[in-house]
Amino acid sequence: MHLSSKHLLGIRELLPGDINLILETARQFKDVLQRPIKKVPSLRDVTIVNLFYENSTRTRISFELAEKRLSADTINFSANGSSVSKGETLLDTVNNILSMKVDMVVMRHGATGAPHFLAKHIPSAIINAGDGINEHPTQALLDALSITERLGDLKGKKVAIIGDIMHSRVALSNIYLLTKMGAEVTLAGPPTLIPKYIRESFNLNVTYNVKEALEWCDVANVLRIQLERQNQVLFSSLREYNQAYGITKRLLQSLSKEVVIMHPGPINRGVELDSDVADSGQSIILDQVENGVAVRMAVLYLLSGRKDG
Ligand code: NCD
Repeated sequence: MHLSSKHLLGIRELLPGDINLILETARQFKDVLQRPIKKVPSLRDVTIVNLFYENSTRTRISFELAEKRLSADTINFSANGSSVSKGETLLDTVNNILSMKVDMVVMRHGATGAPHFLAKHIPSAIINAGDGINEHPTQALLDALSITERLGDLKGKKVAIIGDIMHSRVALSNIYLLTKMGAEVTLAGPPTLIPKYIRESFNLNVTYNVKEALEWCDVANVLRIQLERQNQVLFSSLREYNQAYGITKRLLQSLSKEVVIMHPGPINRGVELDSDVADSGQSIILDQVENGVAVRMAVLYLLSGRKDG
């Protein structure tokens, strides 16, 4: 069994069979991660560079841990402190790294399409760890694994994606994945943060009333307000955002059922999500983080072409 694509650039390019294969392989790696000895030799002698042009905590640590658990050799590159500040182009940087015999590239970049551009120019397998406001495929895969662990098959599940849809690569990757796998999706939040092109191209339900979305869904994936990407005023203040669209304990208690709460992190506590919700039994936020390692092991393993794991 192998993936239909040589790279993981986005969920957009994957077939439902690819998604199932990654999730199934991730479940097997998750079993490995429960053992006292968590390391397997699957990617011994494979060299992977983690190329991070944007800040990251979870994704970067998670990829690095996944690589180490698979016995790969890893190099970490961050644009801060590199020759990027001296004017080196992306392609020059990567070609220099590849001439040191690197097999796979994990890449986060602020520009939409940066990993797609690289894939056209270099022979190594590329894994997109987030490109601008476009996609973050491994996040959507770990979200999917976390949903299936709580609720079973994705087909027919109702997922509300709430908040800053406009600036969120997590939202777009989730929308691709959930619609491909037969789940139902509703977008909720302020009208200024829900772009028309997304709702129309996927034919999704939209509501500006968060309570309505919560009453409808099985799972709410709450997104961070991405202030660093907003160069215009899209809502009045963080306090008012919390009052109108924030997920609070009181709001959840007013519902007729219990909804599973997800968030990709980092959380703006008290803005999109209140602390007592984030830290409650309804939240699977730390399961998402745990599942990230197994999902990234699966992606790296399947794209490496190794069959001897
Ligand atoms: C997300 C990202 O960087 O796109 N975080 C993550 O990878 N866990 C979401 C965000 O920054 O809000």
